[in-house]
Amino acid sequence: MRLSNRCALVTGGSSGIGRAIALGFAAEGARVVITYRRRASDAAEVVEAIRAAGLESAAVQVDLGDLDRLEELYRRAHEVLGSIDVLVNNAAEITRTAFADLTLEELERVMRTNFTAPFLLTQLFCRERLAEGLPGSVVNISSISADSAISRMAHYQSSKAALAMLTRSVAYEMAPHGIRVNSISPGLTSTGANRDQWEGNPELWAERSRHIPAGRAGLPEDHVGAAIFLASDESAWMTGANLVIDGGQSTV
Ligand SMILES: NC(=O)c1ccc[n+]([C@@H]2O[C@H](COP(=O)([O-])OP(=O)(O)OC[C@H]3O[C@@H](n4cnc5c(N)ncnc54)[C@H](OP(=O)(O)O)[C@@H]3O)[C@@H](O)[C@H]2O)c1
Repeated sequence: MRLSNRCALVTGGSSGIGRAIALGFAAEGARVVITYRRRASDAAEVVEAIRAAGLESAAVQVDLGDLDRLEELYRRAHEVLGSIDVLVNNAAEITRTAFADLTLEELERVMRTNFTAPFLLTQLFCRERLAEGLPGSVVNISSISADSAISRMAHYQSSKAALAMLTRSVAYEMAPHGIRVNSISPGLTSTGANRDQWEGNPELWAERSRHIPAGRAGLPEDHVGAAIFLASDESAWMTGANLVIDGGQSTV
């Protein structure tokens, strides 16, 4: 029970990596509020599983690209949990569009969801922790593609590179106050974000997985141990760090 008495807000906790982290946190004793955008039934399933373990939980529907709603989201999560010790900025818009075809609308939507929303949520979190004089932990879910190019993802990769710098600069400024900010960079992981490839095109998936030294793509659960570690006091002297979890993909 490494997170007992901890309260976490996990964005995009209704599916994929966010879902696994929310359930993993609860298994370590944390109370968790998740957000979702469209799939209410997936979110309800996660909340039910956490409540079944006797822990408070709720799901808040929000499109994180709608920045005017973030304060309301934070307030609602705070009401449910009483306090928020851990913020996991996990939700992201993951779209693939050729650079020449990208519109300003798509670029702005991806930047708002993947960078500006985590920026503003982290600011709300820090303001509240500073006012209360309490420590806290922010875990940003970045991507190995913040550092290495793939085609048709210039907008997404730029948003993740910005999130990586946000992690380090806020970590630097908040370290004296006991507020830690770290990130996880997943490699290729089978989630809804790429279901079209692993379900719809198994040959392509096998081909992409073959280039991973560990011999397989990741599962959402592969990221849970790192998230628990970064949320807990086990990483008390760690801030501004990035944990790469990719089966060795970025070694080559
Ligand atoms: N899968 C990979 O290979 C991989 C690799 C590197 C990094 N990552 C990162 O891992 C994180 C989780 O991705 P995933 O693979 O687990 O994807 P996923 O299964 O598609 O889950 C994404 C989650 O984000 C939510 N979301 C998306 N856009 C949103 C918006 N505008 N407002 C609010 N919520 C929104 C989704 O909610 P709804 O389902 O309700 O729309 C869902 O809960 C992301 O930050 C992603 O960039 C993934």
